[in-house]
Amino acid sequence: MTNNSPRSIVERINKKYPKYPPTIYSHKWIYGTWYCGTSWQKAIYYGQFPSTFVKRILAGFPTKENRFLHSCCGRCRIDGAINLDIHNLPEVDQIADVENLPFSDNSFDVILIDPPYSEEDASRYKVKRLINSRKTMTESKRVLVPGGWLLWLDEKYPSFRRKDWELKGLIGIVTGFERRTRLLSMWRKPMHAQQEMRFNESESNIKTQIAYPQPKNETPVFDGGGVD
Ligand SMILES: C[S@@+](CC[C@H](N)C(=O)[O-])C[C@H]1O[C@@H](n2cnc3c(N)ncnc32)[C@H](O)[C@@H]1O
Repeated sequence: MTNNSPRSIVERINKKYPKYPPTIYSHKWIYGTWYCGTSWQKAIYYGQFPSTFVKRILAGFPTKENRFLHSCCGRCRIDGAINLDIHNLPEVDQIADVENLPFSDNSFDVILIDPPYSEEDASRYKVKRLINSRKTMTESKRVLVPGGWLLWLDEKYPSFRRKDWELKGLIGIVTGFERRTRLLSMWRKPMHAQQEMRFNESESNIKTQIAYPQPKNETPVFDGGGVD
């Protein structure tokens, strides 16, 4: 079972890509800037990920060791993950709305989501409106195990309540000049959320809780905001 503490995640990323400027783990916080160029990548979908972005995500959160949900996947298929989108695209395993996920509670260790960022984007994807971030976060929290990670790519990070989420990292994603800069916000479902779990949780979830211990007194030094 992989160790998904913030420090271990950063160590895995930096070990796999030693020639890239390092991702920083400091003061119990993950931050940095990832330059993810797209120069050799064929453009097949509006707003698609730079491939080097996905590689770094997977270095930190390998799908072999994490039950991985890839929400709003578009045309990017991540092997070993469940790739979910509202549209029936070739790369999609599960057609669903992120506000109403067809999975049981505590089913995933990691969720990566890349929703439309603006009304204009939403119309390009032929969806009637932007996702409701509050509903999406609530639903994501439900299907994540305690200690699980929500990785949200957007131009901003959504509002949250500190009792629901621990904001553990912010990484700027740059793809090149005259291209928009995005933000990867990295949230953790609190360990105490296990109290909400039903009594007969599966053994695998119990192992997960043991494998991802929360350091004591882990109060973020950078306070990412949030409402108490
Ligand atoms: C920014 S694109 C994702 C692009 C993707 N990262 C890629 O590399 O191809 C956003 C995606 O969110 C999907 N989407 C929009 N609203 C959704 C919803 N409510 N539930 C699930 N998917 C949604 C769109 O169909 C679109 O494919």
